[in-house]
Amino acid sequence: MGKNKLKKFAQNDTFANLVQPTRDELLEGFALKGNWNKDFFENDQPIVLELGCGKGEYSVGLAERFPNKNFVGVDIKGARLWAGASTALVNNLTNVGFLRTQIELLEHCFAPGEISEIWVTFPDPQIKFRRAKHRLTAPLFLNRYQRLLQPDGVVHLKTDSEFLHGYTHGVLEILGYPIEEAYHDIDFQLPDVPDHVLHAITTHYEKLFRKKGKTITYIRWRFS
Ligand SMILES: C[S@@+](CC[C@H](N)C(=O)[O-])C[C@H]1O[C@@H](n2cnc3c(N)ncnc32)[C@H](O)[C@@H]1O
Repeated sequence: MGKNKLKKFAQNDTFANLVQPTRDELLEGFALKGNWNKDFFENDQPIVLELGCGKGEYSVGLAERFPNKNFVGVDIKGARLWAGASTALVNNLTNVGFLRTQIELLEHCFAPGEISEIWVTFPDPQIKFRRAKHRLTAPLFLNRYQRLLQPDGVVHLKTDSEFLHGYTHGVLEILGYPIEEAYHDIDFQLPDVPDHVLHAITTHYEKLFRKKGKTITYIRWRFS
């Protein structure tokens, strides 16, 4: 492992805004589950998750724009989380935290109804058929999100993958979950509002995909 990564991992251990529970800690009963507002944010604001947040651009960018909401960026890769957590600390953003865990374990991290909104930003589309159950918008994941969300909670998916956009659209229609907004090309279809979060916040992967000429899609839905 590179020296830089080791340095970031060591710093991660000192960051008060980064929570890194072990699998055993989660399975034995995680103290923050159901208590994020009381024990982590120390306020009563709605909690928004960014799943597969990488360097946490949406977690940080939304936290800056919406100080009346709390944000938690979730990813399994510590070196990427370091970027978001250190940016939030440098900017004194107290309404954003980061959680290093597998998304599959989210229900051990948060209580039913503890979440008000979920962002899924540029996930791996898992195109191969045998990987279908790993897509972050596969029915198994949607069931998890529905249980974590408040009844009026929404999920946002921003992706460069036409495949994942179309797949998600289809799954939502089959399951009867109402789609609130959908664009197969945000630059072309979304009115050019400069401070719209879909345009104003761009992630590391988004920049890479845009350089390759990919169009960026967006879909937002609820479960009832
Ligand atoms: C393609 S990257 C996108 C990162 C970031 N959202 C962006 O747009 O730059 C996907 C991210 O999801 C994370 N990830 C994938 N599967 C995961 C899982 N099951 N649990 C936690 N993180 C996961 C990866 O570690 C990676 O950082």
